[in-house]
Amino acid sequence: MSKSIIILGIESSCDDTSAAILKDGKILANIIANQSIHELYGGVVPELASRAHQQNIIPVVDQAIKQSGIAKEDISAIAFTRGPGLMGSLLVGTSFSKAFALGLNIPLIEVNHMQGHILAHFIENEEQTIPKFPFLCLTVSGGHTQIVLVNDFFDMTILGQTIDDAAGEAFDKAAKMMGLPYPGGPLIDKYAKDGKPDAFKFSKPQIPELNFSFSGLKTGFMNFINNEKAKNENFVEENKADICASIQSTIIDILITKLKKAAKQTNIKQIAIAGGVSANSGLRNELNQAKNELDWEIFIPKFEYCTDNAAMIAITGYYKYLKNDFSDQSATPTARYDLNCTDK
Ligand code: KG4
Ligand code: ZN
Repeated sequence: MSKSIIILGIESSCDDTSAAILKDGKILANIIANQSIHELYGGVVPELASRAHQQNIIPVVDQAIKQSGIAKEDISAIAFTRGPGLMGSLLVGTSFSKAFALGLNIPLIEVNHMQGHILAHFIENEEQTIPKFPFLCLTVSGGHTQIVLVNDFFDMTILGQTIDDAAGEAFDKAAKMMGLPYPGGPLIDKYAKDGKPDAFKFSKPQIPELNFSFSGLKTGFMNFINNEKAKNENFVEENKADICASIQSTIIDILITKLKKAAKQTNIKQIAIAGGVSANSGLRNELNQAKNELDWEIFIPKFEYCTDNAAMIAITGYYKYLKNDFSDQSATPTARYDLNCTDK
């Protein structure tokens, strides 16, 4: 029997420090340390994020190795997020990975975080089927909103993307205007469950082709909240569930409309979602509706593989390992990194 391939994945692009152990396509451990410090500031503070990564990285890796039951000498390669992300955060994961690779004399694999979100679909588990190429992936996170045509593991084309804010940012900024802590997306999702999605109407952007825009919605929402609060200072508190349900359904409608358009244009019925916002229950429900209506086959990652995690970095590293695509000690992080790995 051939030797198992064991990958240690490291993710530190934003405010989650994560380490995962993947053995032949299956996850044995996926440890994530969130940074609650940013709640106080209503958003991620880069300097504090890198300091927290520096504190968390060793314990997180240690815990992942212990939980997986493997010995560190059995690790075949270490895969780390090279970008895109916050430079100070990326530096911590990159430096750690280079030192670990050198110490164990194992190969180093650099991973594109956005490819990682998409390739999270290829983590083997009993609950899910794996998409077949080509498929469409709606990648929706705090920093990105893209519809991607995925032809192969490392052959991806962006068909449309946001021209300003990302969908996750729209959730987080709306939440902030309501006085909710960061990150507000999961809270809007939670309160929306008890609200009426058509209680309040917000105007939707008219953006050509498959692109998105969320900045107009953000301004419209801010004016709405300010006007209502001028009339009744308890407006948000008294209508929290309805406001959350209404803003959530507006954001989802913008996303689903373009996804349907992309599916029609490409004639592809294999539809996946990825990124932090794919954890949203409203988005998942809408996709299930579209699935029945349009005969789509839909792919939604397990909850823990939606928001930032090292399992997705490990699986991407695994496919790069299979094609002998390694980095060396000259590897550097990059804040900007597109899906084709251009870092300009
Ligand atoms: O992929 P991710 O963890 O980090 C980035 O790469 O940005 O995505 C984080 C984003 C945040 O904006 C967060 O509010 C949003 O995903 N998010 C959600 C939900 N869970 C996370 N948005 C809406 N509903 C959720 N359940
Ligand atoms: Zn992400």
